[in-house]
Amino acid sequence: MALTGTPGTGKTSISWYLNLFFREVVDVNKVAIKYFIIERDEERDSYIIDIDSLAKYLSKHLPRHSILVGHLSHLLGICDIVIVLRTYPEELKKRLEAKGWTPKKVQENVEAEALGIITQEALEISKNVFEVNTTRKHPRESFYEVLYVIRKLPSDYRAPRYDWSEAILEWY
Ligand SMILES: Nc1ncnc2c1ncn2[C@@H]1O[C@H](COP(=O)(O)OP(=O)(O)OP(=O)(O)O)[C@@H](O)[C@H]1O
Ligand SMILES: [Mg+2]
Repeated sequence: MALTGTPGTGKTSISWYLNLFFREVVDVNKVAIKYFIIERDEERDSYIIDIDSLAKYLSKHLPRHSILVGHLSHLLGICDIVIVLRTYPEELKKRLEAKGWTPKKVQENVEAEALGIITQEALEISKNVFEVNTTRKHPRESFYEVLYVIRKLPSDYRAPRYDWSEAILEWY
């Protein structure tokens, strides 16, 4: 399974709880940065990762029932189920500002979230894409919702569930 989402939507916070219930919860970013950096993108303050090699490595080395956590996990194409965490742009902006991110990085990510970029990418690659909205929830509640989706694969959680593109228009 993949747990993905725009930065700040709560992947790491929720995986803290997942770790209490599942043995194989893998931080995809850690593996990617350790072994699969192609180059550093100075302008965007991030790394370019060799996704194909990362996917091959993970599918070879991980047990079948692993949970892959990270904003690259939906791009690997090796997961049966993809859960995309979503956060309403206004709340995401506050969360990213609280992390001390630069205004430019905050805006880039909030716009990507408003447009549902990760969901679109996931739907191009996987059939079973679900969305969990973490807006105005406690991380523990969101964890229970993720657990519910993993166990039941409820059809009302299937992506796409949210269109927040209008939120962007309000800013310009
Ligand atoms: N319902 C919620 N679920 C998860 N996190 C929440 C929720 N509500 C508020 N938060 C807060 O939002 C922040 C989410 O940050 P977190 O590092 O977990 O996101 P992330 O998706 O792992 O980001 P990144 O891609 O940068 O690693 C935390 O400060 C967390 O406490
Ligand atoms: Mg994280």
